[in-house]
Parts: sequence; C-alpha cells; structure tokens
Amino acid sequence: MQRKDKIGKAYQTVGDTAEAYDGMMTYSSWLGKLICRLIWNLDEEKSRRYVNTAFSGIPKGFRGRLLEIPVGTGCLSLPVYQGFPEAEIVCMDYVEKMLEAARKRAASLDLRNVEFRQGDVGKLPFDDGSFDVVLTVNGLHAFPDKEAAFRELNRVLKPGGIFCGTCYVAGEQARTDFFVRHVFVRGGFFTPPFDTAKSLRARLEGFCRDVSIVSVEAETAFVCRKK
Ligand SMILES: C[S@@+](CC[C@H](N)C(=O)[O-])C[C@H]1O[C@@H](n2cnc3c(N)ncnc32)[C@H](O)[C@@H]1O
Repeated sequence: MQRKDKIGKAYQTVGDTAEAYDGMMTYSSWLGKLICRLIWNLDEEKSRRYVNTAFSGIPKGFRGRLLEIPVGTGCLSLPVYQGFPEAEIVCMDYVEKMLEAARKRAASLDLRNVEFRQGDVGKLPFDDGSFDVVLTVNGLHAFPDKEAAFRELNRVLKPGGIFCGTCYVAGEQARTDFFVRHVFVRGGFFTPPFDTAKSLRARLEGFCRDVSIVSVEAETAFVCRKK
C-alpha cells in the first residue's frame, strides 16, 4: 500500500472516533490521560506547555493570513482562533473524516473566518509567499514525505513570516520511541524517518532565523521566522 493511502486509512478511522482522539490531544478523557502518561510521559501541565508554546508564535491580535496543516479535528487550534476574528485562516488536512469533525467544531464555535480544504502538504495549492503564519501541529511525524512537506510549508510562507508547530522527536524518551515504532508506525499513524531535536533544529535553521525550540519529553514545539 502507498504511504499516503496507509496514512489516509489510519486517520479515516481516527476521524470515525474523533471524540476519543480529542480526549487524548486535549488531555481531557480518562483514556486520553492514561495514553498521555503511559506512552508520552505527559501530565496535564506538560501537555498544555508544548501546545501553548507552538500557538505562542501567532502574534496577539493577529489579522493576517494563516495556514494550518494538518488541522485534524481542530480540537487544539479552533478554540484559539476565536481570539483572531479578523484573520484569514485556511485549515487543511488530507483526510475528509478529520475535516468533517473540524468543520462541526468550527460551526459550534461560530467561527466564520476559517476555510477548510482537503489537500496534501506535499503539494499545496497556494502561491509562493501567500501566508503570514504557517502552523503545523503534530503533523511532521505523520507526513509521508517530509522533504516535500518542509519544502512546501516554506514555499507558501512569506519571507519574514512565522513558522510554528509541534512534532514528535526521536531519542528523547525510550518508552515513547518504543510505542512509536511498534504501534504508531505499524498502524500507519506516523511515518519514519523522524527528526531528533538536534536534526529538527538544524533543519529549521536552514530556512528560518530566531529559531526557538522547547522540548517536553518526546514532543517538541518550535517558533521561528522565515529568512
Ligand atoms: C496526529 S494528527 C494531528 C492533527 C491535529 N493537528 C492535532 O494536533 O490534533 C495528524 C494529521 O495529519 C494528517 N495528514 C497526514 N498526512 C497528510 C498529508 N500528506 N497532508 C495533509 N495532512 C496529512 C492526518 O489526516 C491527521 O489528521
């Protein structure tokens, strides 16, 4: 099976059980908390810390154009967007089922300035330099073609624009590395090769300046500015 088909299938299933997924991502259900602690060694404070660090990259009162990919079910980002009513926000994901859950959440939050589109991070349908902020939360470890993903995310960002996000990095937590290898990769949710904190920094410094990286166990949050 092609990498993209495999990941598409895996997240189709996640979209079908979006509530369970949201409980883990937002550290709010008992099962989600158990998974965070057991697999990721994250308690509530740590779970919030890495996510908040990534979102801190979006300037206060932001009014420009923001691309978020992958939005997933939007459980982490859409509540944040309520604070940016004048921004123009595009949320993209490869899997329709995930987008379906995100659209429902946006409607329940009465978000009117967010557009949802299906698409592949490796082939973005936008002109060069069309966004002021590009946000990617928990996507880089999933994307099937990481070189294409970084190339495209960089291409659609304006020079001086903000690139921020989070991802799993290898080599920080033996327990997490074990589950990633044996459960998430096998299940098609994550796709190797994975960056380490060091290789991620080197990669970001290749096209960005002011690179700030915060590692919380095996999760890394980053904020930087395109050169
Ligand atoms: C772990 S989820 C993260 C979703 C969300 N940002 C969050 O933190 O809850 C990974 C997401 O990546 C999406 N995805 C995988 N490959 C993709 C691709 N090539 N282009 C765009 N999205 C992709 C999946 O559909 C899934 O929604």
